[in-house]
Amino acid sequence: MSEEEELRAWVEVDLGAIVKNTRTLRRLIGDETKLLAVVKANAYGHGSVGVARAVLYAGADYLGVSTIDEGHKLRLGGVSAPILILGYVPPPEAERVVENRLSTAIFDAGLAEALNAAAGRLQTKAKVHIKVDTGMGRLGLYPDEVLAFYQYLEGLASLEIEGIFTHLATADDPDPTGVRFQLRQFNDLLAVLSAAGAQIPLVHAANSAAVLAFPESLYNMVRPGLALYGLSPRRGELVSLEPAMSLKCRVAQVRSVPAGRGISYGWAYRTLKKTNIAVLPVGYADGFSRLLSNKAKVLIREKAYPIVGKITMDYCMADVGDDPIQEGDEAVLLGCQGREAITADDWAEALGTISYEVLCMIGARVPRVFINAPPDFPCLDSPKELGYR
Ligand SMILES: Cc1ncc(COP(=O)(O)O)c(C=O)c1O
Repeated sequence: MSEEEELRAWVEVDLGAIVKNTRTLRRLIGDETKLLAVVKANAYGHGSVGVARAVLYAGADYLGVSTIDEGHKLRLGGVSAPILILGYVPPPEAERVVENRLSTAIFDAGLAEALNAAAGRLQTKAKVHIKVDTGMGRLGLYPDEVLAFYQYLEGLASLEIEGIFTHLATADDPDPTGVRFQLRQFNDLLAVLSAAGAQIPLVHAANSAAVLAFPESLYNMVRPGLALYGLSPRRGELVSLEPAMSLKCRVAQVRSVPAGRGISYGWAYRTLKKTNIAVLPVGYADGFSRLLSNKAKVLIREKAYPIVGKITMDYCMADVGDDPIQEGDEAVLLGCQGREAITADDWAEALGTISYEVLCMIGARVPRVFINAPPDFPCLDSPKELGYR
């Protein structure tokens, strides 16, 4: 019996697609530019340890996370590559950052002092990347605050200033004005730092959209996330990427229902004629948002059927008409079956959000099953060992 046959529902993660997407980005940026693969939020819901190994196998140099716990989980999974925490770290957590050999974004003296002290105690250096707000309006120092901060950091013996970076707010917009404004701010700052004799090894700004559309934003490292997972933040992008995530389940039961029957809570759907309803063991606790009720589709036996009635916490229902659907059939809520496909962008459009949120909202209780690992892929532990089941 295959692993999937034992599961009610599962997220299938195509590591072959992630390897391909990573290599596609590598070709775009060339060999001289480092690739920091953003694997925060459990690798956008795909499973961070498996994904980290796949991107490193395919040529990524660095990994990016949001929290210490995300970095710690990668270390526990045997990942030894450099890892950067891209955002806020509470200063009392400095010791854990250093113990886990994590580099971190830095933009205030409180964390700098705490990291310096922790690294001193542990007789090592804490690596930091200065975070500059050139227009994102989120974390960071304004460009005119950076030189003084850099000089202050230089005085902290146990810190190593490894990088400087900024984050682009509008790289997915067809209008390049915003990106050009931010890059001008960043370039002016780099010139000021250089004139003051600063030498910072890693300079980075580009997210996926910028890697795809703004070669002038590459510097010597890039930080793509979404594109690694096979989705494009820019509509109509020509680069071919392969989505890596599917959400699948088994049909739990097929029920004959007479005409005029209400289906699920509130009877928000009524059968128009005698039909069959397939009950699927995926609900909003698995990330199948209730807002998709009466909007989403499911693929069974290579055909699309409407999800009908309210999606409940653990189940949803599909009207399969008179087709010979059976208990145990594989059903695809996200992904491909035959020639049919349901994409994260389809969900996002129905929900009024972006594909990023769709990927991240797939529930933690759905096991991640890795498929298509390359033949010479370094031993991938079973998902159980990676902590998903
Ligand atoms: C600081 C930073 N860099 C890079 C990324 C990757 O962005 P994307 O997934 O659009 O490539 C993110 C994601 O939100 C981020 O917060």
